[in-house]
Parts: sequence; C-alpha cells; structure tokens
Amino acid sequence: MRRLILAASYVLPTLAGLIAVVRIAAKELLGGAGWCGALALITASAWAQTPSPQQPLPSLSPLSPLDARLRKVMADPKATAAAIVAAKKVTFFCEVCHGVEGNSVKPDVPNLGGQNPSYLLTQIDMFSRGLRHYQFMEGLMKLLTEDDRINATVFYASKTIKPAGNETSEAGRVLYAARCAACHGAQARGNENTPRLAGQQSEYLRLSITRYRDHSGERIFEPMTAMTASLRNTDIAALTAYLSSLQ
Ligand code: HEC
Ligand code: HEC
Repeated sequence: MRRLILAASYVLPTLAGLIAVVRIAAKELLGGAGWCGALALITASAWAQTPSPQQPLPSLSPLSPLDARLRKVMADPKATAAAIVAAKKVTFFCEVCHGVEGNSVKPDVPNLGGQNPSYLLTQIDMFSRGLRHYQFMEGLMKLLTEDDRINATVFYASKTIKPAGNETSEAGRVLYAARCAACHGAQARGNENTPRLAGQQSEYLRLSITRYRDHSGERIFEPMTAMTASLRNTDIAALTAYLSSLQ
C-alpha cells in the first residue's frame, strides 16, 4: 500500500507536468512527438507499478562504457557548450521531478546539479541495464540515446546546487569524518565514480543509506553495506542532517 501511495505521489504531479510539457514540446521540438509519446507511455505504465524482479546485482559499479566519450566532451569547451544546449531535448522532462537545473524540491528525489559526471553517467547506465532498481527510472533511462545520456550528464554536472537542508548536526559531522570522508571526500563532494553527498536531499540520503545497510536490493555496493552496517537510525538521521546542509 505504502508503495502504491508513493508511486501515485510521483505520477500525479508528473502527469500534470507532462501535459504542460508535451504541449510546449509539440510546438518547439522537431520530431519531439515520438519522444513525448514514449514518455507518456512510460509515465502511464508507472501507474501500474509492481516490484521489478530482483536480479542478482554485481558488487561494484564500473564506469559507464560511455565514460571515455563523456570525458572527451568535457575536455572541449565548445563540445561542452553544445552538449548543454542539446540536453534541453531531455532535461525539460527530468525537471518535472529533479527540479530546475537539477535542484530537486522533493525530499526523496535526488539533486542532480553539481553531481560528479562519471557517477551520473554510470547511474543512468545502471538503471537502463537493470543493475539499479527503481522501476520508473529503469524504463525512462532505456529511452535515452547515447547522446541524450552524455548531454544530460554534461548539463547537470555543469550546474550548482543549493543545499537542500538548513539544519546541521554535530554528531553527523563526527560520524561522517570517521566513516565516510575517506571515500566521499572531506567536504562530501565525492570524486569520479563516488557521488557527491553535500547538499543532497535528506530523505533521499536516508533512503539510500538505509537500503545499503539493510541490503534491500535496489542497489548493491558491498563497501557501502559494510560502512553502514552498524549505523542506528538515529545515526543515519544525524548524517543526513549534516550532509544535506553542506554547500
Ligand atoms: C517521475 C519522476 C522522475 C523523472 C521524470 C526523472 N527522474 Fe531521475 N530519479 C527519480 C527518483 C525518484 C530517483 C531516485 C531513485 C532511487 O531512490 O534510487 C531518481 C534518480 C536518478 C538518478 C540517480 C541519482 C543519484 O544520485 O544516484 C539519475 C542520474 C537520474 N535520476 C537521472 C534522470 C534523468 C537524466 C531524467 C530525465 C531524462 C530523470 N532522471 C527523470 C525520479 C525521476
Ligand atoms: C569505500 C568507499 C566508501 C565509503 C567508506 C563510503 N562510501 Fe558511500 N558510496 C561509495 C560509492 C562508490 C558509492 C556509489 C555506489 C553505487 O553505485 O551504488 C556510494 C554511494 C553512497 C550514497 C548514494 C548517493 C547517491 O547519490 O545515490 C550515499 C547516500 C552514501 N554513499 C553515503 C555514505 C555514508 C553516509 C558513508 C559513511 C557512513 C559512506 N557513504 C561511506 C563509496 C563509499
């Protein structure tokens, strides 16, 4: 039941947004109808959310096979600028949930703005290959072409996020420094394939940390399970307050 309510809470605002967006897109985008039709189908299919079959997942998240192409684009200012413009073809839709320039306003939907590019691209890849489970995102990412994936990644990585939270936690700071900073960085900005956590939405952080800890199957990454195994829910609350308030 809780799952159903959660699914509905995504789809309702999404459908409203989608109708507005499809109108604009139909006018402005050449060949946009195919895209929007596909998106409408995917969105409709999210009404009937059923748990996706849980496949065994690998214990590591290797970089996306497109990573070398991404780096080439990002090393070239002209190609980067072109990718950011071209990204609009898809980001108008991502915006419905992930917010303008990747600043999400929904506590359980992650910010994408300012996230590390290789990490973003890897996650897009993992959803589309069914290696990370979240049914709506799995369906949506399969629709993106290689160019769409690279363009959206370059677009979001180029944006700056506003921290999602404003209440920090001293206990969270201490825990973070002891257990997490070695990989996610002293300022929680991550690197390459390690995600930025600074400024991230608190409920998304809580959900993610709890899923790794409880091995619930949406994402499998054994080092994260090991690092979170002994955390109590109160420790996770302290960590998320600390992290979501960081710049
Ligand atoms: C209907 C709402 C919705 C739309 C539209 C949407 N997303 Fe998502 N996205 C989510 C949710 C919810 C999650 C978190 C899933 C989870 O809990 O694992 C997510 C996760 C992600 C992640 C992983 C972020 C991380 O920190 O690991 C990426 C990358 C992403 N989305 C990219 C996109 C792109 C690109 C688009 C547009 C083409 C898009 N999303 C459209 C809801 C949406
Ligand atoms: C050994 C290195 C390592 C350590 C230590 C570590 N992490 Fe991670 N963490 C990662 C990697 C790599 C990922 C991406 C894994 C994946 O693809 O699922 C990740 C993913 C995450 C995510 C998901 C982010 C997103 O955008 O979806 C959260 C939240 C997180 N870690 C929090 C923590 C916290 C809190 C701690 C300390 C208790 C911690 N991590 C310790 C390497 C680490």
